[in-house]
Amino acid sequence: MTEQDFIPSSYPHPLMKGSVSFQSPSNIALVKYWGKYGEQLPKNASISFTLNECHTLTTLHYMKKDSPGFNFEVYLDGNREEGFEPKIQKFLERIQTYVPFVEDYTFRIETSNSFPHSSGIASSASGMSALAMCLMDMERQMLGGMEEDHFLKKASFLSRLGSGSASRSIEGPLVVWGTHENIEGSSHLFGVTYPYEVHPNFTDFQDAILLVDKGEKQVSSTVGHNLMHDHPFAEQRFQQANNQLAALIPVLKEGDLDAFIDIVESEALSLHAMMMTSTPNYILMKPNTLQIIERIRNFRKDTQTKVCFTLDAGANVHVLFPNSEKDRVTEFIKNELAPFCKNGEYILDHTGQGAVQKNVNQQVR
Ligand code: PMV
Repeated sequence: MTEQDFIPSSYPHPLMKGSVSFQSPSNIALVKYWGKYGEQLPKNASISFTLNECHTLTTLHYMKKDSPGFNFEVYLDGNREEGFEPKIQKFLERIQTYVPFVEDYTFRIETSNSFPHSSGIASSASGMSALAMCLMDMERQMLGGMEEDHFLKKASFLSRLGSGSASRSIEGPLVVWGTHENIEGSSHLFGVTYPYEVHPNFTDFQDAILLVDKGEKQVSSTVGHNLMHDHPFAEQRFQQANNQLAALIPVLKEGDLDAFIDIVESEALSLHAMMMTSTPNYILMKPNTLQIIERIRNFRKDTQTKVCFTLDAGANVHVLFPNSEKDRVTEFIKNELAPFCKNGEYILDHTGQGAVQKNVNQQVR
């Protein structure tokens, strides 16, 4: 498929006024995307678990207008959030070629997150994918229907143009984004559900998100991705990520939790190593991030529990473990890791199936 496949010819069933709501989750990458080119295209393939509890609910109210041009307002938890508007403006500019109707409507975008705004959990993946699903639902109605496969691919394609990792939030529980020679159907343009056999060890996998630092990120993802352009280790990193994804295929099939742990922790530390070795360099981990990592490793060594950590572009720690270890690990988190979290806070999440529509459309033609 190419970008051209996502450009519609005309809309035979235009809409006048209505609203649509979608709930879309966050995701946590096992093999990380860090470095991009062109229009939000990844330098390497990545794979993530789609989450379930951390999500954004977005309602898109639309009203047809006479003169073309972007016209929208964003509301977070009922309050106008002008701070989000430049990002949405940029998103609309990027997707306009593919959903040209966006300049024919006045939009009111109402959004809320299931996780606290200041939790340090990025809302871009869940937020952009929820909005993309709402727009795709409008397009589907205006075309008088659409194949499910095309709907999902295009929703992921649009999400990607908002935030790269958002392309992996449309479906679940395991999504690959980025062309990889060992993964059939994978594409730089959109995320696809992982197409091969997955051992029951990975069913309903658990992710406890430990909130180490709830402040604003010191360095945005956009700046971080850009620092990969002249990075001395960039090419080796992209190769490493693709190799780790290839290595993950038999691991997922056989349910090899030890090999899974090795790959996932290597990916987390490699991501942060890129940040620590860029020009300028920066460190997003906090002392408590390292305290937690050390305790997880000691606990694993002492008890043989199949638990590991991963990191996003921030100080929070995602603790990953199979459902079968739930009681033991949640007890360990409560007693030994929570003291290193801001206000002792953490979120228990697990793998999910992706975005879902939340209400029946009320449209007036
Ligand atoms: O989606 P972005 O542009 O915010 O990039 C985020 C990338 C990481 O979260 C650090 C890794 C990943 O693959 O999700």
